[in-house]
Amino acid sequence: MSSGVLTVFHTSDFQCGSPFRPHAADAMIRLADEIRPDVIVSSGDLTQRAKVREFATARSVLDRFGDVPKVVTPGNHDVPLYRVWERLTDPYRNWRRFAGPDLNSAAEVPGATFVALNSSAPHRALVNGRIGDEQVAFARRTFAAAAPGDLRILVIHHHFIAVPDGKGGRPLPGASRLAREFESMGVDAVLGGHVHQIHVRRSGVLTSADASTGVPLVASGTTTSRRGRGVEAHRNSLHVIRFEQDVMRVTPYLLDAGAQDFEKAEEFRFARRKGHDAGDSSRRERAS
Ligand SMILES: [Fe+2]
Repeated sequence: MSSGVLTVFHTSDFQCGSPFRPHAADAMIRLADEIRPDVIVSSGDLTQRAKVREFATARSVLDRFGDVPKVVTPGNHDVPLYRVWERLTDPYRNWRRFAGPDLNSAAEVPGATFVALNSSAPHRALVNGRIGDEQVAFARRTFAAAAPGDLRILVIHHHFIAVPDGKGGRPLPGASRLAREFESMGVDAVLGGHVHQIHVRRSGVLTSADASTGVPLVASGTTTSRRGRGVEAHRNSLHVIRFEQDVMRVTPYLLDAGAQDFEKAEEFRFARRKGHDAGDSSRRERAS
């Protein structure tokens, strides 16, 4: 974190395996080298089918970011779908081998505390996921122990609010209740993916009937696969998120079919949540 600004490079849904686009990964790494972020976030679905060779590819992609701190969380594709015995008995075997031992994790960087919660549910909700009470309690404990001025950033693969075009499936069960919990923890932003197109809202849609209040819920599209949906069919996306003194700037970058590099798109801007309450002032939001 330099000059009071924290820069997060938010990627998602690498989907290493048959949908993976190596040239998109190359473009992602070139952009990261240019941006020089403080933290890399990869918000789930590192792989397409949770196979060893797919996780090995994902690991090598993550390693290309170098020594930058990384926050990574599992998605529904990171557990085996068709290898039923493995899914029932040891669904995170390959995740743990390549991504790390913890399914829920916390990370501190100067100025910010991150909590990543595993929303995949290999036994009961294969597609639209779950977040349990003990995970909420873990997030609450971790953020309560954070330095008072720290940013509190949550990473969860699944989305909280349906995408307008209906693609991406149903949101997380209990999304309203969860959003209320995260608002009360003073969470500054929730970063995720799963819907394979950029999807940015505020939790007020769920908790106060005021879409201009609450926690920014920021989903990236798929950064390195051919599984983009809706307006991002055949495209890839990621976010560069800058937390400045008074404002959070979410800048989408899009890679068009046949293009060499990600191109910057129009930013989303959010007034920073003051003192970790729900108060917000001016803002501009756009839905894709
Ligand atoms: Fe997913």
